[in-house]
Amino acid sequence: MSLETYYKDHWVEIEPDRLDRYEDQFVWGERGNRLLEPAEIAAGQSVADYGCGPGYVSMELARRVGPEGHVHAFDINADFVARTREKLTAEGLDGRVTVTHLEQDMLPLEDDVLDRLVIKNVMVYVDDPLASFKEFRRVVKPGGKVHAVDSDFYMTAFDPVSPEDWRVVLDSALHAFRTPAIGRKMYGLALQAGYSDVSVQVIARPETTGRMFNFIQNMAGYAREGGMHDEATVQRVVDIAAKAVKEGTFFSLNPQFLVTATV
Ligand SMILES: C[S@@+](CC[C@H](N)C(=O)[O-])C[C@H]1O[C@@H](n2cnc3c(N)ncnc32)[C@H](O)[C@@H]1O
Repeated sequence: MSLETYYKDHWVEIEPDRLDRYEDQFVWGERGNRLLEPAEIAAGQSVADYGCGPGYVSMELARRVGPEGHVHAFDINADFVARTREKLTAEGLDGRVTVTHLEQDMLPLEDDVLDRLVIKNVMVYVDDPLASFKEFRRVVKPGGKVHAVDSDFYMTAFDPVSPEDWRVVLDSALHAFRTPAIGRKMYGLALQAGYSDVSVQVIARPETTGRMFNFIQNMAGYAREGGMHDEATVQRVVDIAAKAVKEGTFFSLNPQFLVTATV
């Protein structure tokens, strides 16, 4: 994979271990409810889930829009598209969701057809976030909302991993993100894209059970694939975090930026 396009290519093709880690990492929970709240998803709405991943967000949206609503789920990874379809069928929700394998950042939807578009932890990977916000504005009806949730990768924090070591891992894994500081940038980008009302919230909740250890493992993998990393530091970070998870002393913080913009 070329490092230039790694931020996208590593989603088009995902190695089996990482694919399985995402099933744990993205499972829906109480945290998800808080992240979705400002989108005001309601029965009967037509909603898009841009970058649906393994399908947990799409399933939750399908439950919330009910039998009268519809969800359009999109992803660039074929395995995620298949996994999302399987989950929906197993839950009997397939009739209210259309799952589409996307091969470009533009959406195969007419203008003004959606009430809501949700994009959770995907904006950081799109080629051109401003162009994506404009594209989302095209497909959402006037008065509808785009709800974008994302991290700001420079604000992630771990303990007992040292800030210096974490910064080394982060710097050598940055090719995995198109816009690593997307969290702080989304507010300005949404304003620039011409939305009428843009609100921003930041939810920062410590994660201490070890779920974020998956994220550390993924970052170590990106650093190693980049080949310009300091292996001793990367391994030390993984070892210290693994030991802390085992001993129950793991602490992590990954603030989520919630930008809700009205068309
Ligand atoms: C971090 S995962 C988030 C998955 C899901 N939204 C969630 O929160 O559970 C990022 C997802 O975005 C998808 N993705 C990355 N770049 C994309 C793009 N340009 N267009 C659509 N999907 C993309 C990936 O394949 C992956 O499923």
